[in-house]
Amino acid sequence: MLTTQLPLLTQSPYQAYVYSYPHKTAYRPFPDRSLNEIWSAEKRDALFLYIHIPFCEMRCGFCNLFTTVNHSDEFVNRYVTAVQRQAKCVKAALGDAQFARFALGGGTPTQLPIAALETILNVAEDEMGASLKEIPVSVEVSPETATTEKLQLLRDRGADRISIGVQSFIDSEVLATQRRQTSAQVQAALTRIRETGFPTLNLDLIYGLPGQTVDTWLHSIRTALQFHPEEIYFYPLYVRPLTGLGLSDRQWDDIRLACYRAGRDLLRSEGYTQVSMRMFRRHQSPHSSSPVYCCQADGMIGLGCGARSYTRSLHYSNDYAVNAKEIRSIIEQYITSDDTVFDRANYGFDLNREEQQRRFILLSLLSEEGLDGLAYRDRFSSHPFTDFPALQELIDWNLAHQEADLLALTDLGVERSDAIGPWLFSEDVRRSMQAYELK
Ligand SMILES: C[S@@+](CC[C@H](N)C(=O)[O-])C[C@H]1O[C@@H](n2cnc3c(N)ncnc32)[C@H](O)[C@@H]1O
Ligand code: SF4
Repeated sequence: MLTTQLPLLTQSPYQAYVYSYPHKTAYRPFPDRSLNEIWSAEKRDALFLYIHIPFCEMRCGFCNLFTTVNHSDEFVNRYVTAVQRQAKCVKAALGDAQFARFALGGGTPTQLPIAALETILNVAEDEMGASLKEIPVSVEVSPETATTEKLQLLRDRGADRISIGVQSFIDSEVLATQRRQTSAQVQAALTRIRETGFPTLNLDLIYGLPGQTVDTWLHSIRTALQFHPEEIYFYPLYVRPLTGLGLSDRQWDDIRLACYRAGRDLLRSEGYTQVSMRMFRRHQSPHSSSPVYCCQADGMIGLGCGARSYTRSLHYSNDYAVNAKEIRSIIEQYITSDDTVFDRANYGFDLNREEQQRRFILLSLLSEEGLDGLAYRDRFSSHPFTDFPALQELIDWNLAHQEADLLALTDLGVERSDAIGPWLFSEDVRRSMQAYELK
C-alpha cells in the first residue's frame, strides 16, 4: 500500500530524480547466479543494449554519475578490452538474442580516443550482434570531445541520435559548477553535429544554477532553439555547487519552479511536446518502423563498469560509488576481472510482484504515456487502484486525471514528478536506500 504521509503538495518538488526503479542504492549482494539461468526464461527478441564509458574530460561540480577524470590511454585501452571480454561472455550466456536499441553513455563516450570508440562500436555490432544501421543508436557527447572525426565515425556506423551536455549558454553559470566550457565551444560543437547530419539532436540544459535567473535561463533555451534540436532535456540542479547559491532551500525551489514553468511554456509555444518533466520532443523518431523498445516489457543488457542490466524481475550491476577513489578502484577491479565473473551476477535487486507493479506504475505515470489500466491488467491480472488505492489521492489533489482507463499527470503533477516518484517507492526500497552507505 502507498502511504499518504508525504505531503506531495507542500514539500519541495525536488526530492529525487527517478529514472528507474529501484534506485541503485537499493541494490545488495545476492547469491551468485549464472546469466544463462537468469536470462533463459526471458524474452530476448527486442533487448536494449547499453555500453557505459566511465571517463570524462572534467568532473562537473553537479554530477554524481559513475565516471572518472584520471585515466591514461593505457588505462582506457584496458577498459575497452575488458568490455570486449565481457561482451563475449554475456553473448555466449544469452544465446539467441536480438537488440532493438543501442545506447552508448557515460561519462562521456567521446572521451575515448577514436580507435577505442571504433572498437566499442565493433563490440556492439560484432560481439553482441546489434545491427547498428537498422536500430535506433544514441550516443552521449560533451562539446569539446565531439570532434568532427568522432561525429563522422558515429554517423557512418549508424548513430542517429546525439545527446550533448550544454547546461547553459551563459559562461559564468557553467564555470560556477567547475565545468570548463564556453558558449563559443558549445555553439561550434552544435554546428559540427548539425553538419554531420544526425536525425536527432538532444541538448541537456540545467536550471537552478548559481547566478541563473528566469531571463538568463530563457536566453539559454532560445540559443539552443537556434540549432533546432529534435529533443531538449531540462534538468533541475540537485547538487549545490561548492561556490554556494546564497539562497534558502525555499528560495532555490521557487527559482527552479519559475525556470521550469517559463521554459516549459516557451518550448510548448515553439511546437515541442512534453514527454516527461525533463524531456521535450519536436517530432517522432525516424525509426518508428523499427522494433519498438518498451521499458515496461523488454530487457536491458548493460556492458561496462557502471552499467545495469534488467530482466523483468531481476536488476543487477557492478558495485556503485560516487567518490573518486572508490570509482577508480571499482574500475580497476572490473579491468582485472577474469572472464569467469562476466557470465555471473551477484549484486542487484530481485523485484517481487509488488515491486514490479510499482515499477510499472512509476515509469508509465511519470511519462506522457500515462498509466494504462488495461495494460496493467494484462500484465498483473488486477487493477492499479485495487492494488494501490492511494493513487486516488493524485486525482483528489489535482496531480493526475483519469480518462477511461488512463491515469495521466496534470501539469501540476508533471512539475511534481520528482516528489511523486519517491512517494511510489515501497518501504523496503526506501529502507535499503536510506541504509546504503555512500562510497
Ligand atoms: C552523461 S551527461 C551528458 C554528456 C556529457 N558527459 C556532458 O556532460 O556533456 C548527463 C547529463 O546529466 C545532467 N546532470 C548530471 N548530474 C546532474 C545534476 N546533479 N543536476 C542536474 N543535472 C545533472 C547534465 O545535464 C548532463 O548533461
Ligand atoms: S556532466 Fe558529463 S562531463 Fe560532467 S562529470 Fe558528469 S558525465 Fe562527466
